[in-house]
Amino acid sequence: MKKIIIANWKLNPTTWEEAENLFEAVKRGLGHFENSEVIICPPFVYLPLLKGVTLGAQNVFSETKGAFTGEISPAMLSDLGVEYVLIGHSERRKMGESNELINQKIKASLQAGLKVVLCVGEKEGEDKKAVLDKQIQEGLVGISPEDVANMMIAYEPVWAIGTGKNCGVKETLEALEIIRNNNLEKNILLYGGSVKVDNAGEYLKEEAIGGLLVGGASLKAEEFLAIVGAF
Ligand code: PGA
Repeated sequence: MKKIIIANWKLNPTTWEEAENLFEAVKRGLGHFENSEVIICPPFVYLPLLKGVTLGAQNVFSETKGAFTGEISPAMLSDLGVEYVLIGHSERRKMGESNELINQKIKASLQAGLKVVLCVGEKEGEDKKAVLDKQIQEGLVGISPEDVANMMIAYEPVWAIGTGKNCGVKETLEALEIIRNNNLEKNILLYGGSVKVDNAGEYLKEEAIGGLLVGGASLKAEEFLAIVGAF
């Protein structure tokens, strides 16, 4: 089975020109890899620029339309050709997103036909199992088993994101086991948190790890392509 590699550009780059350069360089290199499927999640404003790749959004609103200044709806993303959406990234949770809001966003996204990547993960020192179980159970409440089965779940321990301190493979597999035990036997599970060229291969060779969510290292085309090619 192909591995899924998701590029999360976060709030980068700052200009259209830089986004175009990064995108063109990544796109040129992607043709060489047959074992991986790449999804690029740029900031909303660059989505129309990225043609010819599978696109994801980094966030979405929980309603379809109406008086919600500044928001972007799942229907709008779907209409732009976006296929995937990250929901519940820890950088969103940190800004106050609750499991309840995440659940509403998931439901609205599924209704618009988007494929959901739910991000979960504990903070340093927290009880991993308690946090993961709660994030999953509250995030997925009221969603049909068929819809749940089509979602990807990304395990991203907060302490590993952007810190250079990636979670070891053994510990990652233990966390994925906790996730699986929440009736997620069939789901593709990803790892994210300080993935770099020199550690990507260790995760990708594990059958239980369906792919990677790459932040910082997705902003340099060469490095990102080396990660894509690490399997
Ligand atoms: P990082 O980010 O690769 O920069 O640690 C991962 C993420 O936030 O998805």
